[in-house]
Amino acid sequence: MPFPQHRPRRMRATPALRSLVRETTLAPGDLVLPLFVHEQDGRAPIGAMPGVDRLSVQDAVAECGEAVRLGLGGVLLFGIPDHKDPQGTQAYAPEGIVQRATRAIKAAHPDLLVITDVCLCEYTDHGHCGHVQEDGTVDNDASLELLVATAVSHARAGADVVAPSDMMDGRVGAIRAGLDAAGHPTTPVLSYCTKYASAYYGPFREAADSTPAFGDRRSYQLDPANGDEGVREALQDVQEGADMLLVKPALPYLDLIWRVKEATRMPVAAYNVSGEYAMVKAAAAAGHIDERAVVLETLTSIRRAGADVVITYHAKDAATWLT
Ligand code: PBG
Ligand code: ZN
Repeated sequence: MPFPQHRPRRMRATPALRSLVRETTLAPGDLVLPLFVHEQDGRAPIGAMPGVDRLSVQDAVAECGEAVRLGLGGVLLFGIPDHKDPQGTQAYAPEGIVQRATRAIKAAHPDLLVITDVCLCEYTDHGHCGHVQEDGTVDNDASLELLVATAVSHARAGADVVAPSDMMDGRVGAIRAGLDAAGHPTTPVLSYCTKYASAYYGPFREAADSTPAFGDRRSYQLDPANGDEGVREALQDVQEGADMLLVKPALPYLDLIWRVKEATRMPVAAYNVSGEYAMVKAAAAAGHIDERAVVLETLTSIRRAGADVVITYHAKDAATWLT
């Protein structure tokens, strides 16, 4: 319809009209809070991530009480072990840090959804996400066994969902089969299917002490230039039995969130990663941006792109602002 009959501004005139036609919602229940659990007592701050600490098991249980009070969708656990070795044995140890934290959290907050990150890089002394061979390359198929053992040990400890983030080929199928064989056929797999080799993981690697000792992750994580390949990874993981998919990072890859959702119609999560968080916190601390407005706009945009769930270090602040 030609102007002046068609005036799009009519529907933007008042808060009531804007609210009536708003297309995207953002609620605390859409948000998942990542937690770093270490084997030390007390909290240890993470330099680039103000407001995020490494937590003892006891602190993590208390933090989960906050998550429940705020109505968050869940928590995502990462472990920082005292002991690292070439095979990442603490990743699948029954008394490993994630296994102990999971048991303690589920005992205290049985209704809180606990998702565990399944990877080896925090547990290996070389910092890679799999088994490293003598020539320095990561052996895909040898890594699968260790990842399956990790996922099964998490399920045994009471994890509600296991989330492999390693990017080895075939790991979703292997983990599904391993869970089924171990008596956990109902534990869902959230696959980090579309995970890029990103510079935005820098602060996380400081937090988790998981920077590779040599080389980088470009032989297993996706090339940031490749969109079709990110969709193919998602489709393959659906074939292998993934229950939920994840795109990571979020903001520089909104196109992939959209494309993965369109291609699969599966539940899709997006990970608003450590570097995205650190940039917002640094700009806000410098007084360059309005933190609350920027965070809510960012999280809404990730939802608008097609994410059902947003994993974000802003989860507690955002939930507070939304209520
Ligand atoms: C480990 C893992 C990483 C992140 C989640 N799981 C880092 C990496 O792949 O190097 C990144 C999370 C973040 O940056 O917030 N596989
Ligand atoms: Zn890893």
